[in-house]
Amino acid sequence: MDGHPEATVDLDAIQANVAALKRHVGAAQVMAVVKSDGYGHGMLASARAALAGGATWLGVVQVADAIALRTAGICVPVLSLHGSPDSPHEQAIKHEIDLTVGSAALLDQVALAAAAAGKPARLHLEADTGMGRGGAIAADWPALVDAALSAQAAGRVKIVGLWSHFACADTPGHPAIGRQLDAFRAAVAAAERAGARPEVRHLANGPATLTLPGSHFDLVRPGGAVFGLSTLPGGAPDWLRPAMTLRARLIQVKRVPAGTPVSYAHRYTTEGETLLGVLPLGYNEGIPRLATNAARLLASRGRRVSIAGTVNLNHTILDLGDGPSEAGDEVVVFGPGDHGEPTAQEWAEALGTISYEIVTRFTGKVPRTYSGVAAAGTSGPAPGSAAAGTGSRTGYTAAQAADGRTDGQVAAAF
Ligand SMILES: Cc1ncc(COP(=O)(O)O)c(C=O)c1O
Repeated sequence: MDGHPEATVDLDAIQANVAALKRHVGAAQVMAVVKSDGYGHGMLASARAALAGGATWLGVVQVADAIALRTAGICVPVLSLHGSPDSPHEQAIKHEIDLTVGSAALLDQVALAAAAAGKPARLHLEADTGMGRGGAIAADWPALVDAALSAQAAGRVKIVGLWSHFACADTPGHPAIGRQLDAFRAAVAAAERAGARPEVRHLANGPATLTLPGSHFDLVRPGGAVFGLSTLPGGAPDWLRPAMTLRARLIQVKRVPAGTPVSYAHRYTTEGETLLGVLPLGYNEGIPRLATNAARLLASRGRRVSIAGTVNLNHTILDLGDGPSEAGDEVVVFGPGDHGEPTAQEWAEALGTISYEIVTRFTGKVPRTYSGVAAAGTSGPAPGSAAAGTGSRTGYTAAQAADGRTDGQVAAAF
């Protein structure tokens, strides 16, 4: 692309972040949530780096993404984090993808798909403890559990997990946190009283992983934290490293006099003689239009520079001051912050959003490159690696992934 825009993803940072999260949680397993194309970092490469860092589970939203991980040779448990009636359940079951079920109606569908697939579906029953999104509310939970236990007795499903999702874990001290914890404990207790013997109970997203040890249970589900980001006030702790750097080169630089109006609607006028630079990234590529006139939010030649006027569809004009600057200079939009460049967290704070929204904006619009040891790429987890070792836990093998073969076997470990 003109101006060489590039999103560079530091796979070593992802690996190290997961290793640090693993140390932070101690006994709990880590499910690296790599939905939304790995929060814009690339699902497959991010997943491999996370597995190399010690994640033993992966989480996605779309069943198609889970299947893509399988066909790439990844054998660890992969959970689809929403239950949807039109998902390709039979295919998912053949690939031993863990499915979320939050209603008795969906459970019936999945059980039918399991019959067609010729093997039990691996289920995680979702309790809605206060998010108001997926899952069964308390009144519907006993019926869902009973239906799942009946389907399990019939050999159609295996209840692998019980889970729920926090609404306010990134607001420390929010009263909903304690209420959801209590509700989740009650949901687990009720399911276990009814006879469920889940392998994993899980509630904690990234903010809870970082701040609420009492919510870790058997498994934590960090997403943004894997990529060095957090929605907690102030962002991620400094022991997590932002993995994405977004840069491009100026395609034109020119000196203009004081009083020069700039960009659509002339929302900016130069105060004195200055250099204007044209960055070949606009709101089509991912720069939020709300960043119009944002001060000192990019870096070039180690200096912070400001956005001059309205962000265009494909361009953003920068006030570069006295320079020195010339066409071809690199501009860093955001990065880990090592060299004075802003972070995605700084963008988020300036624009009243969260860092996740900043980094996911560029997906598919800006070419992505990778750095770090894991960038060499393999067709699957390395033999003997944590990922490969964990892969055996579901009994699912890369060979099955490759040819879609099903042998009716679910791992003896389950
Ligand atoms: C069900 C579920 N678990 C875990 C996560 C990860 O959350 P975070 O990226 O805040 O760690 C998400 C993301 O929204 C989610 O929907």
